[in-house]
Amino acid sequence: MSRIAYVNGAYVHQRAARVHIEDRGFQFADGVYEVCAIRRGVLIDMDLHLERLAWSLDQLRIDVPVSWRALRIILAEMVRRNGAPAFGLLYIQVTRGTAPRNHAFPTGIAPTLVMTVRTLPAPAYAVLQRSVAVITRPDLRWRRPDIKSVSLLPNVLGKQEAMEAGAYEAWLVDDEQRITEGTASNAWIISREGEVITRPADRSILNGITRRVVLRLARRLGLVVSERAFSVAEAKQAREAFFTGTTAFVKPVSRIDDTAIGNGEIGPHTDELLRAYLAHVEAQAANSVPVARR
Ligand SMILES: Cc1ncc(COP(=O)(O)O)c(C=O)c1O
Repeated sequence: MSRIAYVNGAYVHQRAARVHIEDRGFQFADGVYEVCAIRRGVLIDMDLHLERLAWSLDQLRIDVPVSWRALRIILAEMVRRNGAPAFGLLYIQVTRGTAPRNHAFPTGIAPTLVMTVRTLPAPAYAVLQRSVAVITRPDLRWRRPDIKSVSLLPNVLGKQEAMEAGAYEAWLVDDEQRITEGTASNAWIISREGEVITRPADRSILNGITRRVVLRLARRLGLVVSERAFSVAEAKQAREAFFTGTTAFVKPVSRIDDTAIGNGEIGPHTDELLRAYLAHVEAQAANSVPVARR
């Protein structure tokens, strides 16, 4: 099935989808994005993603490209036109628009709205529960990584370094040797005392939607949860470690740099949280009307 993209009002074959070379997203990374999982044709936690998109746009003073009602219709149509997959990812990007290159905001232009859908193998517990290694690297990003902007160069470089080191993710480290987050995920540890720890969602991290859901699930499971910064040294002494994200779900960590975490298998609390998160996704997929049938 061919992939259908959305570009400024038109549904087009992805191969033919184009934006202007003077789009400010291309020239200045002057734009924001969201990635939302699709499960059985249902957009998972869509309201939370749209809420964050609205906030990111507002922070950068980029206009909302179409009404929120129209945006929801386009989202549904994109899922439908791409075959309402059993599993996939929907990508939304909004940039400030196209104008002759000049740093200051241009006036009188419309934002660019682009969407794509990618179909992927359904998330199987057997695969998700496999632990992966992470490396630590200095956090080289600007001081507003809480905005989901398309300015991702340090994230790209960090992820590439992780790949080259045989790891899956890079955890970024601030000037006080505390972990901020992963290049495309939020970082968590579970202390020897069983405390579930993740950095507070201040301006130093992206407040992940998966992070928000997992925090809620952890509290519901009766785990002791603490939103506080933790150091690299503390992480290396943790009993369990994992990271969360729309594409990673809840991913156990077996190694941080050269330090093994636990016995290399998923730890009991991480496992509990992964299962709870999977149940959350499956329940939403089962209880919502798939967009294709609305
Ligand atoms: C830097 C960063 N942190 C955290 C996340 C996780 O956010 P979410 O759970 O909303 O996917 C992402 C996702 O892409 C990210 O890029």
